[in-house]
Formats: sequence, C-alpha cells, structure tokens
Amino acid sequence: MDIHIQPAEGQLSSSPPDKPKLMQGGNYIREGHDSTKSTWLLFTPETPDSAGDLARFLNIFSSHGVNLSHIESRSSARRPGYEFMVECLHGSGDFGAALQDLKKNVGYLNIISRNYKDNRYLLTAAVPWFPRRIRDLDRFANQILSYGAELDSDHPGFTDPEYRARRKYFADIAYNYKHGQPLPHVDYTKEEVATWGVVFRKLTELYPTHACKEHNHVFPLLIENCGYREDNIPQLEDVSNFLKDCTGFTLRPVAGLLSSRDFLAGLAFRVFHSTQYIRHHSRPLYTPEPDVCHELLGHAPLFADPAFAQFSQEIGLASLGAPDDYIEKLATCFWFTVEFGLCRQEGKLKAFGAGLLSSFGELQYCLSDKPELLEFLPEVTGVQKYPITEYQPIYFVANSFEDAKEKMIKFAQTIPRDFAVRYNPYTQSIDILDSAKQMKDLLRDLHQEMEFLLNTMDKM
Ligand SMILES: [Fe+2]
Repeated sequence: MDIHIQPAEGQLSSSPPDKPKLMQGGNYIREGHDSTKSTWLLFTPETPDSAGDLARFLNIFSSHGVNLSHIESRSSARRPGYEFMVECLHGSGDFGAALQDLKKNVGYLNIISRNYKDNRYLLTAAVPWFPRRIRDLDRFANQILSYGAELDSDHPGFTDPEYRARRKYFADIAYNYKHGQPLPHVDYTKEEVATWGVVFRKLTELYPTHACKEHNHVFPLLIENCGYREDNIPQLEDVSNFLKDCTGFTLRPVAGLLSSRDFLAGLAFRVFHSTQYIRHHSRPLYTPEPDVCHELLGHAPLFADPAFAQFSQEIGLASLGAPDDYIEKLATCFWFTVEFGLCRQEGKLKAFGAGLLSSFGELQYCLSDKPELLEFLPEVTGVQKYPITEYQPIYFVANSFEDAKEKMIKFAQTIPRDFAVRYNPYTQSIDILDSAKQMKDLLRDLHQEMEFLLNTMDKM
C-alpha cells in the first residue's frame, strides 16, 4: 500500500517527507491532484478508541490493494474518540470490496466523491464531493468546463487575434490564482476602458429608475471607494475588499465556465467567482458571456447588501452534497433571482438581477408590459425552463430579499440529504451536522448567546 501523508499547514513534520507520519487533529486536505480520481471516506470505529483501530482499517485497504494518498485522524465531532479520513485513489485494487469490508467494521461512514456516478459502489451511498474549507475552492480552477480563452465562432472577438490573446492572459491569471493571494491587478488597455465607459454611461442613466433601492444605495459607495468611473475599470481586489467589509463576500477570479455545482458551492463560503476580462469592443452593449461589466455593475453592488448576501449564501449551502436534480433546481432559482430577479418596492417593479442590471436593453424590457411575471417560489421557479440567448419571456418577482431567503431555507429542507450544513465563519469552513452530539454542542452555544443577549437587555 502506498501511504503518503502530508503535514497540516503551519505544522512542521519531524519525519523526512518520504516517511509516513500520522497527523492528529489536523485538517489538511492535499492539493494539486485531480480530485475526480479519488474518493474520500470519513469513518469512526464501532467502539471508541479501541487499541489498534487504525492498523485494522489500513489493513482493509491494503488487503484489497487500494492505494491511499491521504490519511488523517482527528477528534470526532460526532461521538467520543477519534475519526479517520482517508483518500482512496481510483484505479488501484478492488475499491468496492474494500468499501464493503469497511462498512462491516465502522460505526459511521461518510463517502465523498466527485465521480460517484461512475462507480457502482458509490452511486447510492456517496455524497457528491463538496468543498469543506474555503481553500478547497482552489480545486475548481482545474475543473472548469471550458477555458475562458476558447471562443465560439459567433463570438464578436472570434476573428480578433489581439482579443483572443488578451482572453488567454485573463484565463491564465485566474487559473493560477490561489486562495489567500491578492487578486491580480490588471492594467486595462485604452480600448478596454473605452468599452467599459460606454456600458457604464448607458447603464447609470437607467439605474435611478430601474434598479432596486439596494443597488442604488450601494452604487455611490462603489464610486467613492472602488474607482467606479466611466474612465476606469475597477480592480477586483478593491471591489472584493469593499464587499468583505460590508458582508464578508469576496470575489475570486475564474478561468472559465464552472459547473453549476462548483459555482453554487462558492456561494456557501460567500465567495463569488468573477470574470475579469471585458467584452469585445465592436459590440459594447452585447456580450454572449459574463464579463467584468456584468460582474462589477450587475453583481457586485448587491453582494454588499446583508440580506441579499445571506440569500445568496443560502442557495450555496443548499447545494452542498445535494443530488444532481436539486442542483439544477437551485441553479435555476439562482438564474431567476441573482441573475434575472425582479422585486416589488413601494408598489413599483424594480430589477435586482445582475443579468438585467448589466444589460441596457433588457433592463428596460424587463420592466415593460411585455414579459410575464410570476411570484418567486423556489419549488415553482426551480423547474421553469428559460432561454439563455434572448430576453427572458418570464421573470419571477420577490417580495423582498428576506422573504426570498426564508423561502430558500424552507426549500433547502426538502433536499434529500442525511445531514445539515452550517458555515463556520471563524474557520471559513462547512460544519456537517449529522449527530445528536453536534446538535447538543450547538444548542449549548446558542443558549450562551441567548443568556448574553438577555443580560445585555437587562442593562438597557
Ligand atoms: Fe452572472
């Protein structure tokens, strides 16, 4: 058996790198290899802390010839004693047989896999892989469905070699970006700034009358703090820092199209994957894909609003480990809200979707009497079909972001999952809640919080 264990970040290993060393209490997930080619197993022994547990489990993998690329033991949040996490590499040994043996010997087993559909042993048992820690989002960089430099033949920039080279430049910097690094600063060309200027001028004419009040509240702050001007394309870093101060949302550059599952997972961490390139200058009011105008004029202002940020995160949390059909429903809800949502404010219809707030034509059309309007209800909205290359024939109207959030939370409860998820802002990680002990710990924390609030009330 091939055992390769790496020390946690910040921990120094006293063993030479080629010598196996078990790490306790660490939380390192190894980076840099293709996570579609492995399956993570998280398990606890039947009885806590029996001597020789780890050796017994390792022997199961070894006897079936399954290679492990990561082994970790840590204190269990679920029950007294330790739990183990291993990463099994596909293509080695008889994984199915090892899994069957393991099931007979553990008290708790959680299977996390990116390609569970390709493996008959995992199809019914596995939870689709999802990021547990914010730095796991780095893994999405090499899971993109198409690279940002690949343009379709009908793209306005398809025959422009200079534009294509520029797109490759942007895709490459996003591809190499890692969590924690400053967002890459870009020197935009005069032509690019001029394109931005046209879009900026046209859209800002419409915002006072067409955008929701939250967008109109935040937009002047972005002008003041982040260099939003007709003659300047703001830097992602400045916008991300501003959002972080407002709601904890951050931007991270993306090199191409992510799967719905990966894109939504980012929202669970209050991370929004953002493009950094700009549309082709020949058609400043048209883009076949999201660009920096769409992200910074459409999306960014709303992520500074606490209720909208919470709503967006709820969609992300609901997506973690959800079955594929629910991912599609959540992505459709995202489409009809964060991208193309309308809301009613003081008796008037206003736009809050980024696809509307970044399109001069559709922003006017959506508030006309032409489209059909329906009330936002996740179970209805989530199954609505929609076109992606023309104005939407149907829009969904939310009463408020708070109301939309409540509805999303209720909808999330209908998703078939054996666990609940909770974002831990201190560690920027996802807590998986699937045991009475965890619930008890959480309730104790809540009780303390309530006591603190009651005591504070008494002082007022
Ligand atoms: Fe978007």
